[in-house]
Amino acid sequence: MPSLVLVYGASGHTGRFVVDELVRRGLAPVVAGRSVERLQDVVRAHPTLPRRVFDADLDAAQALGGVGVVVNCAGPFLDTAPALARAAVQAGAHYLDVSAEQASVRDLYRDLDAPAREAGVAVVPAMGFYGAVADLLLTAALPDGAAAEEVDVAIGLDRWWPTPGTRTTGARNTAPRVVIRGGEVVRLDEAPPAPRTWEFPPPIGTAEVVAVPFSDVVAVARHLTVGELRSWLSTAPLADLRDPATPAPEATDERRALLTGRDIYAVTAPIVAEGVVRLLDGRHAVPGALAPAQAFDARSVLDDLVAGTPDLALTLDA
Ligand SMILES: NC(=O)c1ccc[n+]([C@@H]2O[C@H](COP(=O)([O-])OP(=O)(O)OC[C@H]3O[C@@H](n4cnc5c(N)ncnc54)[C@H](OP(=O)(O)O)[C@@H]3O)[C@@H](O)[C@H]2O)c1
Repeated sequence: MPSLVLVYGASGHTGRFVVDELVRRGLAPVVAGRSVERLQDVVRAHPTLPRRVFDADLDAAQALGGVGVVVNCAGPFLDTAPALARAAVQAGAHYLDVSAEQASVRDLYRDLDAPAREAGVAVVPAMGFYGAVADLLLTAALPDGAAAEEVDVAIGLDRWWPTPGTRTTGARNTAPRVVIRGGEVVRLDEAPPAPRTWEFPPPIGTAEVVAVPFSDVVAVARHLTVGELRSWLSTAPLADLRDPATPAPEATDERRALLTGRDIYAVTAPIVAEGVVRLLDGRHAVPGALAPAQAFDARSVLDDLVAGTPDLALTLDA
């Protein structure tokens, strides 16, 4: 397996965090995307890194020659993931993305498990804040993969300054959101739970939350036995998200300040980078299309994340 890593969507807010994080870990990723112009900033920041420009759905297999791990940061993933993940598998490369979109993750599990097994590679979507964190935490908290009757995933954010990619993804992602009820993946809108309050640790404290499930539901359903999974998100960031006047987040040169566990975009980089290094050094599960905690040892990923990200604190009652 070649050790070359390619970051697609490297021009984006998240893609640039990911490139920075991989470089910090001693790798020299290929910076890639659909537009030479849009890649200029990341190329200026890392002039020695190789670069490739191609459309996700055009000639991608050819563009992935010599690549061992593809990291897709270009969302909406409903648009980019199907072709890019398939091209990665065809090129014999592992594939990671940071999709929060349930439908995109579900489609990759459905369409690429058999091809990935045949190619001997891992396809691991949802390796970002939304997706991997809940899947890793729940898996680490359950002794030896035991079943859980009821799970609440509660995400407390004080605000959400969305990137253009987040806004486009929200508009593009019209698939009905799903949760787990009666052990089955079902549509949330069949019986959405009423908003409630949730006690978060400081500094969030008591906050109103509403049911907003992300890709972690699909990842958890892939490998854990759960009777009911409820997903909650604090309402303050939702108001930010719905307000077109909310500013975009600061540029990536603020990275050090944002890598404190207080920024969903910044913290996604070390999460997906953990996936990259584990795929490169063989610390991953059998091939196939896998949930984050299926592909990687959940406890060890979380421990390494906390160890490598000073202000990220995770408490596990396992
Ligand atoms: N799971 C999580 O926790 C998590 C965390 C962070 C981000 N995300 C997701 O990651 C995605 C990117 O977010 P971002 O914050 O980085 O947004 P962003 O700063 O607006 O960047 C979007 C990136 O996607 C690329 N892109 C979009 N559509 C494309 C297409 N059809 N073909 C090729 N490239 C395309 C853009 O390329 P150009 O520059 O050429 O336009 C750019 O590189 C979003 O879907 C977001 O929801 C998820």
